[in-house]
Amino acid sequence: MGKLADLAAQRFGMDVDVAEVEAGPGHDTLTTLLSHRTHRRFLDDPVAEEALNLLYACALSAPGKSDLQQIAIIRIRDPDKRRAIADLMPQMAWIGTCPVFLLFCGDSRRIRKLGQLRGHDFANDHLDAFLNAAVDTALVMQNFITAAEAAGLGCCPISVVRNHIDRIAEITNLPDHVFPVAGMCLGRPSHPGFTSTRLPPEMVVHTDQYDDSQLSAQIDAYDRRRDGIYHIPPEKYRMMAEYGTPEFYGWSEDKTRQVSVRERDDLAAYLRCHGFCLD
Ligand SMILES: Cc1cc2nc3c(=O)[nH]c(=O)nc-3n(C[C@H](O)[C@H](O)[C@H](O)COP(=O)(O)O)c2cc1C
Repeated sequence: MGKLADLAAQRFGMDVDVAEVEAGPGHDTLTTLLSHRTHRRFLDDPVAEEALNLLYACALSAPGKSDLQQIAIIRIRDPDKRRAIADLMPQMAWIGTCPVFLLFCGDSRRIRKLGQLRGHDFANDHLDAFLNAAVDTALVMQNFITAAEAAGLGCCPISVVRNHIDRIAEITNLPDHVFPVAGMCLGRPSHPGFTSTRLPPEMVVHTDQYDDSQLSAQIDAYDRRRDGIYHIPPEKYRMMAEYGTPEFYGWSEDKTRQVSVRERDDLAAYLRCHGFCLD
């Protein structure tokens, strides 16, 4: 098996028939993508300004809907602001300890202001305007992560900022039509991390029509395969009081427990209050 096939097999915990590519820049890019892992523990080493500028340049090279460029990145440098943000999420110590912390925001404000400057209405004031800015921001974030990993750095996106959206917006002075998508921890990893096993392509890639008729059997196989690679220890089981100890605690048990709790109920209210029409 060649190297890309090895990495793909590691990604899914099973062999997959992937093309090999000759050594060179393309191979390096594919290797970076297949090797992705989130990092939550960092060395104290600062990230050089030029390195950060390179990551911004790579991130902002992402494609964007109609070239509208609806993204704002807020770098949190003020130690008091960083502490205030980290204190909101004490369960994620890496927010306070990573060398660089950024906030990636969808920005539908700039194009609306430009419309005022140029004397044009903003006609698409509905859910699509929010979705476009959110998608653009996600693509920029992904480029940022890939660039960081290619440069030997590591990242952890932080969607939990949206659990505290009003306070985050207050700390970073977010105006109407600008909303946080995720925070981003950046630094040089202090540990190698691990490859998180993904659902197999056969569950995610459909041909001609959507088909999840084999879901039950496929998820059992995935849960067992993933458990063989990383066994979730009992102390990490969620919501034991509500759901007890199942015979087997795999990924699907863990994730369905996680989403059985409602959170971020105030997101739509926040967005409406900050100028978005979500209809
Ligand atoms: C949009 C987004 C938000 C995330 N939010 C958090 C977060 O708040 N805290 C955290 O520790 N990890 C967060 N993560 C990291 C995911 O937990 C991680 O990507 C996932 O477990 C898969 O692991 P991997 O990235 O190492 O493959 C987030 C990832 C994404 C893409």
